[in-house]
Amino acid sequence: MNTVTVNASKTYDIRIGSSLLSTLGQEAAKLGKAQKVCIVSESNVFPLYGNIAENSLKGAGFQVTSFVFPGGEQSKNGGTYLELLNHLAESKLGRSDLIVALGGGVVGDMAGFAAATYLRGIRFIQIPTTLLAAVDSSVGGKTAIDLPAGKNLAGAFCQPSLVLCDIDTLNTLPESIFLDGCAEVIKYGILYDPELFSYLETTGPDFDRKKVITRCVELKRNVVVEDEFDTGARMKLNLGHTIGHGVEARSNFELSHGKSVAIGMAIVSRASNCPDTGRILLILQKFGLPDTIDYPIEDIYAYTLSDKKRSGSTVSLIIPRAIGDCAIVPTPVETLKSFIQAGL
Ligand SMILES: NC(=O)c1ccc[n+]([C@@H]2O[C@H](COP(=O)([O-])OP(=O)(O)OC[C@H]3O[C@@H](n4cnc5c(N)ncnc54)[C@H](O)[C@@H]3O)[C@@H](O)[C@H]2O)c1
Repeated sequence: MNTVTVNASKTYDIRIGSSLLSTLGQEAAKLGKAQKVCIVSESNVFPLYGNIAENSLKGAGFQVTSFVFPGGEQSKNGGTYLELLNHLAESKLGRSDLIVALGGGVVGDMAGFAAATYLRGIRFIQIPTTLLAAVDSSVGGKTAIDLPAGKNLAGAFCQPSLVLCDIDTLNTLPESIFLDGCAEVIKYGILYDPELFSYLETTGPDFDRKKVITRCVELKRNVVVEDEFDTGARMKLNLGHTIGHGVEARSNFELSHGKSVAIGMAIVSRASNCPDTGRILLILQKFGLPDTIDYPIEDIYAYTLSDKKRSGSTVSLIIPRAIGDCAIVPTPVETLKSFIQAGL
C-alpha cells in the first residue's frame, strides 16, 4: 500500500493499494468519535462493493445506514442532494459521525457536498471506484452538484478525512470508462511529468495501476497544496478541459468527458504548434482516445465560450510548450475561434 499525505486546510492521507475496502471499518475507527456511518453510493457500484464496506464498518462497531441513488450524471442534482440530506437527518447522524462516498466522481461530488453542508459540515471518507475518481475527483476537496443551468454550479471546497483507493475495484469498470480516466492520467504526464508520460507511452492502458495512480495523486496533491481554492496554479489542471467541455456540451454529453478532454488536449497542442504534438497524438491513439471531431467550428466555439471558466473578454487556455511544461494563456475571445480552427 502507498500513502500520500495532503497538507491542505486539513491534513489527510490517501491510501492506494489492493484489498483496502475491507479495512474501511478499522480505518474509520482510527478517525475517532464517530458512532454512525452513512454509506453513499449508486445503483451500479453498491451491489458490487456495498456489502464489503458495510460488513467492515459493522465489524468495527459502527451503526451503518446506506443511501443508494441511480448511477449516472443525471442523478447529481438538487433532488438527490435533498433526499440525501433528509436521509442523514432521519438516520440521526450527528456532527461527529461520518459519510462514506463509495463510487465514482458522481458519488464523490454528491456525498462530499452533503458532507460539506449537513449540520454545517461533517467528516467524510472517499472510496473512489473509477480511475477518474482515483486520480482526480477524490483528491483536493472540490464537491458539487449540477443545476439545470449547468454542471457543478452549486458546491463547496471540503477536504475528506481519508481517501481509500482500492485498486481492485477498478477490475469491474467497463473498458471505455477506464479509458476515460486514462485521458486524465495522460494529462498529468503532459502537465508535469515527462517520466510518467514516457512510461505510459511504453505501456499503453496496461500500466501498473498502483504506481501510476500514486504518481497522479502526488502530482494533484502538490497543486492542491499550492492552490487549494483554485485561484492560480490549480487552473492548469484544466488542460484540454475548456475546449473539451465545449465539445462535450456540443455532443449533448453523448461524447464522454475523457474523450472530450482528449480532443481538447489534441486541439490545443496542434493549434499552439507544441513541438511534442506528435507524441501527444500518438499516445492518445495508443489509449484508444480520439484526437479530433467533426463538428462545425462555430458550434465548438459557441459552446466553449459558454464554459464557466471564461472571465470577461478572455478565456484561460492551458497550452503545452513541451511534455512536462504547460502555461496558462489568457486568450481573447476574438482569437479563440481561429485558434480552435487551427487545432481541429
Ligand atoms: N470534484 C472534482 O474535483 C472533480 C474532478 C473531475 C470530475 N468530477 C466529477 O466526476 C464525475 C465523473 O466521474 P466518473 O467518471 O467517475 O463518473 P461516474 O461516477 O458516473 O462513474 C462512471 C460510470 O462507472 C460506473 N462505475 C463506477 N465505479 C464502478 C466500478 N468499480 N465497477 C463498475 N462500474 C463502476 C458508474 O456507475 C458509472 O456508470 C462528474 O460528475 C464530474 O463533474 C469532479
